[in-house]
Amino acid sequence: MSLEAKIDYTNIPKHIAVIMDGNGRWAKQQGQDRLFGHTSGVESVRSTIKVARELGIKFLTLYAFSTENWNRPKEEVDGLMDLLVQSIANEVDELNENGIRLITIGDDTQLPRNCQEGLAGAREKTKDNTELTLVLALNYSARWEIMEGLKKIAVEIENKNLTSEQVNEQLFESYLSTKNIPDPELLIRTSGENRVSNFLLWQIAYTEFHFTDIFWPEFRKEHFLKAILDYQARERRFGLVSEQIQG
Ligand code: IPE
Ligand code: IPE
Ligand code: MG
Repeated sequence: MSLEAKIDYTNIPKHIAVIMDGNGRWAKQQGQDRLFGHTSGVESVRSTIKVARELGIKFLTLYAFSTENWNRPKEEVDGLMDLLVQSIANEVDELNENGIRLITIGDDTQLPRNCQEGLAGAREKTKDNTELTLVLALNYSARWEIMEGLKKIAVEIENKNLTSEQVNEQLFESYLSTKNIPDPELLIRTSGENRVSNFLLWQIAYTEFHFTDIFWPEFRKEHFLKAILDYQARERRFGLVSEQIQG
């Protein structure tokens, strides 16, 4: 039986988040420099978007650049930003033709000017698409996001637009960059690292994790389907006991 035939199409996650990791180590294995790994990872992104759309996943969040990644060697950071600009320019028409809406989370005001412009154009062009929302996390850090939300709420309280009694989980979520995006049911991390690295800390409270040893540039449909099958074999209890879920 093929992997695809095993998928339960009545239980497809609405939102899958991916920590795309292992580009550098994969490149090293090939005797290449780290940027070669990042460039090769673009094909994995393309493949993952295609499968997500085919399966009817509504939100796909890809962790592309963390706030901490600025501290990498300048050559690598510059290369990643160039790759981002190029990839957006190359892919935007195809994304649009496939009904994919691009949005970004993270502090994009700190990105190079040409990146900001490329992203703004792509967001605008694809804004009415409804097949799949592709969420790129760029200069993203979950602690930053939570602090930003907190500060905005504090200002509202200072200005007497809100009272502290009105602050609850629902309100707080509306101050996060993932406002109007459901929490991911599944988080995938490639490359054998079993950590969250400051990604979506608020949103993953009840997310299922799938860790795979595959390096990101090798990640293809087969690995994506395996992650979804792994998710579908889990029982999500949300603090309850098994009998309550099944009953
Ligand atoms: C993920 O691959 C891409 C980014 C973080 C931008 P890495 O560049 O982290 O690759 P490794 O983890 O060093 O192998
Ligand atoms: C997480 O990967 C960030 C992205 C995939 C963009 P890192 O490679 O930066 O994470 P650490 O340093 O291994 O925690
Ligand atoms: Mg890494």
